Amino acid sequence: MKISKIHSVVFSPCGGTLNMAGAITRNLKSITHDLTRPSERKGKLSFDKDDLVFFAFPVYGGRVPTGSAEIFDQLNGRGTPAVLAAVYGNREYEGALIELEKLSVQRGFKPVAAVAAIAEHSIEPEVAAGRPDASDQQALADFGRKIYDRLTSQPDLDSFNFEAPGFVPDRPAAPSDVFRPSTDQDKCSDCGLCVPVCPTAAISGDRRHATSEDCIGCMACLKVCPESARVLTHPKVPEVKAWLKSITGERKEVQTFF
Ligand SMILES: Cc1cc2nc3c(=O)[nH]c(=O)nc-3n(C[C@H](O)[C@H](O)[C@H](O)COP(=O)(O)O)c2cc1C
Repeated sequence: MKISKIHSVVFSPCGGTLNMAGAITRNLKSITHDLTRPSERKGKLSFDKDDLVFFAFPVYGGRVPTGSAEIFDQLNGRGTPAVLAAVYGNREYEGALIELEKLSVQRGFKPVAAVAAIAEHSIEPEVAAGRPDASDQQALADFGRKIYDRLTSQPDLDSFNFEAPGFVPDRPAAPSDVFRPSTDQDKCSDCGLCVPVCPTAAISGDRRHATSEDCIGCMACLKVCPESARVLTHPKVPEVKAWLKSITGERKEVQTFF
């Protein structure tokens, strides 16, 4: 079949998923639609039968982040082949690919393959530090090329019988308030950088930079703050970080599914 245009549709608060999408399409000419921030979500995107779309989303609590369904509501496929990419911090991806499959099918896409890949853990950067590394990037670029070659060597999508792997975990999908940052008023210089990077517009624009319940705990504001004034103060944070480090010692590799 003919593929006229290749697209990546990406949600990536801290940049790891965007990096991954770039690695997957390294050997393909593609257009990136980074839909992470409200300012970037400017209306519907429609794709045709002869487009190929890579969906790249991070894993939060073994699922896709809260708000992913609203992002998919802006997308329309017309039997468009899709490749699903779940990016996670070396713990587990659990139900993320299944959720991506469901969301994309509902919007008219036909998933044909998937990949689960590892990036630095945005809550505890010591976990999966330096990932994706050169070997991850090579595996991802090979995967992107392989799925393109498979598609273009087939007359249509009939021979693709993809089913997403994993299981949806039996725990609440809602973000935990453990990971809701606040602003240390003594350190904040009111530069305002944290406000536009928030994917859910949860940070107030005034001097206090208070965080609303819309926060999904993505850590983008912590990463961007030049004064380290965005902080996690919940008493459970040290325990969760220690737990994450204790269970992620073994390196996981890029996994591909056709
Ligand atoms: C709230 C939250 C929950 C997360 N849950 C998981 C998880 O269940 N499994 C895992 O391996 N990594 C988990 N991670 C790590 C992210 O999936 C990983 O850091 C990813 O690269 C973040 O994408 P980004 O850099 O594009 O924002 C979580 C990160 C956050 C912020």
